[in-house]
Amino acid sequence: METLARSRARATAPKKGVADSGLPAKAARRSDGAAHRKPGRTSALGSRLRFLGAFVREPFTVGSIWPSSVTLARQVVDSCEIQPGNTVVELGPGTGAFTDLVLKRMKGRGRFIGVEINRSNVSVLRKRFPDCEIINDSAENLPRYLGRGGAHCIISGLAWGNMMPRMQNRILAAILRALAPGGQLVGFGYVHAAWYPTTRRFRRRLLERFDRVKTTPVIWKNLPPAFVYQCWRD
Ligand SMILES: C[S@@+](CC[C@H](N)C(=O)[O-])C[C@H]1O[C@@H](n2cnc3c(N)ncnc32)[C@H](O)[C@@H]1O
Repeated sequence: METLARSRARATAPKKGVADSGLPAKAARRSDGAAHRKPGRTSALGSRLRFLGAFVREPFTVGSIWPSSVTLARQVVDSCEIQPGNTVVELGPGTGAFTDLVLKRMKGRGRFIGVEINRSNVSVLRKRFPDCEIINDSAENLPRYLGRGGAHCIISGLAWGNMMPRMQNRILAAILRALAPGGQLVGFGYVHAAWYPTTRRFRRRLLERFDRVKTTPVIWKNLPPAFVYQCWRD
């Protein structure tokens, strides 16, 4: 098992043409359990407003006007079978609605990687979680950053219903390549989007590619209401 900080120290300098991991050199040299450190100071309202600003600029990509609620975040993280020492990936962490809980669950051991495409959300994440490996890139490039071994758990914060089928395919292929044997994908969907053709198509792909898929009842304490899904490859 390795500490989160040690795993961060393994983070390599970005290759040419590859988005940067955002890992400060100072953090890469640290050797203590960084997940125990308090998150950086960014007010909840401040990060929500940044999220809203990101939505206004790129509504289709960001996919929701507000970050997920604490209730949804708890349900997502409780659905993850995370063990300290695991490699955990979060795709589309936004401004970190799930990240704090995930890091607590990891208890300072293992490796955490966040992959977020929106620059403004990335800067909030790097401020809130200065010791974390936050990559400013598209989720479809995840395998570049993982190295050998794969991820035990991949958490998706992506709005699949807003994605074109080609992008869905590319990201799903990246997830399947990145998952370690027996690994788990956990994500959420918005109830209002469940009937979009893109969402229904994505659900069919999940059922084809994973051995088991389970969905929770609707979580009403979220704007908009959502449900959580868990997928396993045996
Ligand atoms: C619906 S928001 C969810 C944010 C956060 N997980 C939450 O629950 O509050 C979707 C997030 O995914 C990001 N995103 C969209 N497409 C992406 C992609 N291809 N790769 C990485 N992040 C992406 C958006 O910028 C946004 O931050």
